[in-house]
Amino acid sequence: MKRISLTRFLVEEQRLNQNIPAELRLLIEVVARACKTISHAVGKGALGEVLGTANTENVQGEVQKKLDILSNEILLEANEWGGHLAAMASEEMETIHPIPNRYPQGEYLLLFDPLDGSSNIDVNVSIGTIFSVLKAPDGIATPTEQDFMQKGSQQVAAGYAIYGPQTMLILTTGNGVNAFTLDREMGSWVLTERNLQIPVDTQEFAINMSNARHWYPPVTRYVDEMLEGKTGPRNKDFNMRWIAAMVTDVHRILHRGGVFMYPADKRDPDKPGKLRLMYEANPMSMIVEQAGGVSTDGKQRMLDIQPTTLHQRVPVFLGSKNEVDLVTRYHLDA
Ligand code: AHG
Ligand code: MN
Ligand code: MN
Repeated sequence: MKRISLTRFLVEEQRLNQNIPAELRLLIEVVARACKTISHAVGKGALGEVLGTANTENVQGEVQKKLDILSNEILLEANEWGGHLAAMASEEMETIHPIPNRYPQGEYLLLFDPLDGSSNIDVNVSIGTIFSVLKAPDGIATPTEQDFMQKGSQQVAAGYAIYGPQTMLILTTGNGVNAFTLDREMGSWVLTERNLQIPVDTQEFAINMSNARHWYPPVTRYVDEMLEGKTGPRNKDFNMRWIAAMVTDVHRILHRGGVFMYPADKRDPDKPGKLRLMYEANPMSMIVEQAGGVSTDGKQRMLDIQPTTLHQRVPVFLGSKNEVDLVTRYHLDA
């Protein structure tokens, strides 16, 4: 098998499609390198003393794990000095992180969820890192949070790393979705899957069923109908998976289809869902759309939502086209 490294892939992609300027290539490579470092720390587990809680809370009031903080630091440190970024934002930081004055400033904005699926860390189940890249508005000297308030459709690149039995990097720059596997001995990312496509139909759904009593009627209707199986209105049996790491659920859906849902529910009307628009829903939605899937907040295309705050939450319905269309229709009907 001819091995194509991430570097070579990006260079050749640029030659063919002109959609990866040198600065963006550098950015992606730096993020990929940081993910390699995170993967190394994750892989050490207890031996690296990276498990367990840090006993601090992030801006969303969630208790931080040691790996949440470590991964955030790795990403910040790796991306600060390269000259390709104007600023960063992260799940683990209340405010944006402008590039310090001592380094040159670039034209991109990077957002990330440094460690997704935190509750899986201590039980040795797959976790990941999610990232989103935006262009800073032209001519800005010091980026502000306002400069990040761009629709998901403005993303120039998005991706995630998954730390599972293999460490993989899934990437889109707006020209399909490609997957790279980390060769641990060589320390390099090797292209292993080209142009991933999500099947339009599926018999598999992912939702945290323990919240069923809090759901709004459209979600209850949709899930109840699936649960009725072959003899119900859907005329087929459905299977269920829930890994509690969006990265891992999306990774499965990219490979064999499915519908992933984290709806808003009645528990706390001020919290529209759990997942965050800017560094979870948007990058995953770009990937899903680039793989032929659909992503909505139940009512509209995720990538068309105008963000208003960095850490805003959003309901998420994404995956196989026909299922996401159906659950979205149930919301619009209601
Ligand atoms: P994070 O670890 O970055 O806070 O994100 C966890 C998210 C997401 O990855 C996952 O789908 C969801 O939380 C799981 O939530 P429940 O524990 O409510 O099932
Ligand atoms: Mn997350
Ligand atoms: Mn996280």
